[in-house]
Amino acid sequence: MSERSMASEKAQTNETATLTDNQTGESLTLPVLHPTIGPRVIDIRRLYAEMGMFTYDPGFTSTASCESDITFIDGEEGVLLHRGYSIEDLAEKSDFLEVCYLLLYDKLPNKQQKVDFENTITLHTMLHEQMTSFFRGFRRDAHPMAIMVGVVGAMSAFYHDSTDINDPYQRMVASHRLIAKMPTISAMAYKYSIGQPFVYPRNDLSYAENFLHMMFSVPCEEYKVSPTLAKAMDRIFILHADHEQNASTSTVRLAGSSGANPFACIAAGIASLWGPAHGGANEAVLTMLQEIGSKERIPEFIKRAKDKDDPFRLMGFGHRVYKNYDPRASVLRQSAHDVLDELGKRDEPLLELAMELERIALEDEYFTDKKLFPNVDFYSGIILQAMGFPTSMFTVLFALARTVGWIAQWREMIEDPVQKIGRPRQLYTGEPKRPYVPIEERS
Ligand code: CMC
Repeated sequence: MSERSMASEKAQTNETATLTDNQTGESLTLPVLHPTIGPRVIDIRRLYAEMGMFTYDPGFTSTASCESDITFIDGEEGVLLHRGYSIEDLAEKSDFLEVCYLLLYDKLPNKQQKVDFENTITLHTMLHEQMTSFFRGFRRDAHPMAIMVGVVGAMSAFYHDSTDINDPYQRMVASHRLIAKMPTISAMAYKYSIGQPFVYPRNDLSYAENFLHMMFSVPCEEYKVSPTLAKAMDRIFILHADHEQNASTSTVRLAGSSGANPFACIAAGIASLWGPAHGGANEAVLTMLQEIGSKERIPEFIKRAKDKDDPFRLMGFGHRVYKNYDPRASVLRQSAHDVLDELGKRDEPLLELAMELERIALEDEYFTDKKLFPNVDFYSGIILQAMGFPTSMFTVLFALARTVGWIAQWREMIEDPVQKIGRPRQLYTGEPKRPYVPIEERS
């Protein structure tokens, strides 16, 4: 039996929970599973077969959709672990490719494994040359996320030799290709939008350096990557690498559960990430800060955020899982200062405004009572803008970094023996069966 197929046995206990239907008096005793850490889980798989009932959980707030060994979040305590390592340790002591290895292969690489992995990823950084024509089919003013959804989906048409999901070797090659090519595709989407020539990857540079080079260099001038900016970029990639079963990751898993190829699944994840409640939030934070404009106007916006009749929300605040300071936001708060110092923008008004907004919100009972704290997006937009990224690229950077998380979760799902096609049920409240009404009799 493989290690993964043993996994559910790891969680088995003698504990049970009993569900009683007060209508019929019928009871069902269900197993209670124990995770390594985190809340216990009631295994309801037999519920429909034995009691003919579904559970109702819009937004899946109480539902574990899968078993996973990759990432753990304790939202109450503000803890994020990848394969058991804290995000703070990884952000400080590791680099992005090492974190990719950790997410994909369950352990930190030793020196030789690290060199081999870096070489493998580097070997895949170039795109099939014909894909450049694919870019040219887009309008110049297309949102880069629209281009990303299209081009990443189109990878399935270019890399046929890594689309057989039942072949572990092809799954591995697809994983490496996606991690390696996302920076190239992202930078190309940007270059296309501003009418500059595409810049080929440089394999003598690190992952983050190479991305900055493809984004900001032009063929007619020398471009030197600042080590501070490359470090900040790498840290942003680490902080976004995975976040367990969020909307886009669940989308990737759901798409993959039908047997779709990995490139199509990642394109689906990119589409899901695009929304302002998910990956689009850092773009929305910056727009909000610009709209607030000055510290004097903060109370007006805080008032609006608290008003039930106003759809305005404080962007970059609140999280489905974190009911404490998002640990990624603390790391980025520090990075924001480092980057702005390096760029000589220490007095950047938007950073001052953001810090003041955070201070005022955290002293307000509305936010503290509802446990609304700054999330990862609160500071990332300020850093990215200072580094020269247009706001339309913010979510693209999130997608680039999250690709490894999506692919690690997708691979885990494919290798899970209990995996089956995802098919939620529903609470139907529409019309019961009724006779068809001919058009001349309709009111
Ligand atoms: N500003 C004002 N009120 C808020 C906010 C906010 N940012 N977030 C939540 N609330 C209120 C909400 O109105 C509700 O109040 P009530 O209980 O009185 O109806 C309560 O807090 C709970 O909110 P919810 O919408 O039920 O919570 P949720 O877990 O469904 O939503 C969220 C989480 C992230 C979608 C939400 O907090 C939000 O819209 N935040 C702003 C957008 C944002 O920053 N998103 C980035 C998320 S982190 C990046 C990622 O992981 O993708």
